[in-house]
Amino acid sequence: MNGIEVKKDVYWVGVKDWNLKEFHGYSTPNGSTYNSYLIMDDKITLVDGVKAYMSDEMICRVRSLTDFSKIEYVIVNHVEMDHSGNIPVIMKLAPQAKIVTNMAGKSALEAHFDTEGWNFQIIKTGDTLNIGKRTLEFMTTPMLHWPDSMMTYVKEDKLLLSNDGFGQHFACDSIFVKDEPFDVVMQNAKSYYANILFPFGAQAEKALSTAGSLGLDIEMIAPSHGCIWSGEKEVNAILGSYAKWASGQNEGKAVVVYDTMWGATATLAEAVMSVFQDAGIPVVKHCLTVKNVSEVMVDFLDAKYVCVGTPTLNNQLFPRVAGFLAYMKGLAPKNKKGFAFGSYGWKPGVVNQIQQVFTDLGWETVAPFEEKYTPKCDAVSQIKERVREMIA
Ligand code: FEO
Repeated sequence: MNGIEVKKDVYWVGVKDWNLKEFHGYSTPNGSTYNSYLIMDDKITLVDGVKAYMSDEMICRVRSLTDFSKIEYVIVNHVEMDHSGNIPVIMKLAPQAKIVTNMAGKSALEAHFDTEGWNFQIIKTGDTLNIGKRTLEFMTTPMLHWPDSMMTYVKEDKLLLSNDGFGQHFACDSIFVKDEPFDVVMQNAKSYYANILFPFGAQAEKALSTAGSLGLDIEMIAPSHGCIWSGEKEVNAILGSYAKWASGQNEGKAVVVYDTMWGATATLAEAVMSVFQDAGIPVVKHCLTVKNVSEVMVDFLDAKYVCVGTPTLNNQLFPRVAGFLAYMKGLAPKNKKGFAFGSYGWKPGVVNQIQQVFTDLGWETVAPFEEKYTPKCDAVSQIKERVREMIA
């Protein structure tokens, strides 16, 4: 378990969590990685930790390069426990090291761990730290996606250590994007953005603009999840994608999300989808019986139209639809047109709860549609007309 050199004397010392299937509600069928980096300069610097349960593996990689007693700085770019979980272990092994983080980072570390005896160096955007042949420059990126989030730029290597930004929940044999199918990595980066960073488009735009105003010349982006973007083409591709996703621009696509008990809502969903197909609008349909909410959210980045359908179970939203709405509302996608539909047996009305979510998100809407028990030809015609009204 050795470190892997990513730039001269800069090493990946992270871990691969091949078996991770779920990350706080986000389905991760491709696992993930927690990337730490060790900079072997005059003042040896470790950037970010890993999840506590994978600490031993990371420690082996660091020890393949140096002794912990020689580490002078431990940079904490983000305190969420996938990156800080083993920081207490690191600080036991390297009590002489200074923790470099921002004020919010210090406060979050103190709220998570017993930090007594830890020596902090607090930085803000634009501050630099000389570690020998290299100068590190810091950029705080608050709420991208936690208050403490920040990035570290290694000037001489034109290397941005971006933590969650530009990451992917994707474990693979290599650690570089160039060694993996590009589309697969990009799809995982898109999924990561949709499920983690979606609510923070304004903060992402601000970070991109701050990087520009600091004049950061970036040749490599090494995030703390997934593969490393290296070379102009890859770096520009991911920066361009982030600029687009953060701006809220979409591809004009339609997403139909629903669940079904006895097939009635499925019939309505099929009718809804057919209107988009007839109009030549790209459409994707997701049934929540078989799709995880995080798979569905990826399509929201491209969507202008969102149609959500539910059966009624004991006078309530169908539970998987309710769960999806809670997840989606938290991610707060903007600039959509919403349509709520569904079926009921005893009492109508649950579609109004879907409509309320759309309204809370500030979306345009058309009137909801619901049908008692099994939709017949008339109901199918009526719901199609409602969707035509939506796209008119
Ligand atoms: Fe990868 Fe916000 O932690």
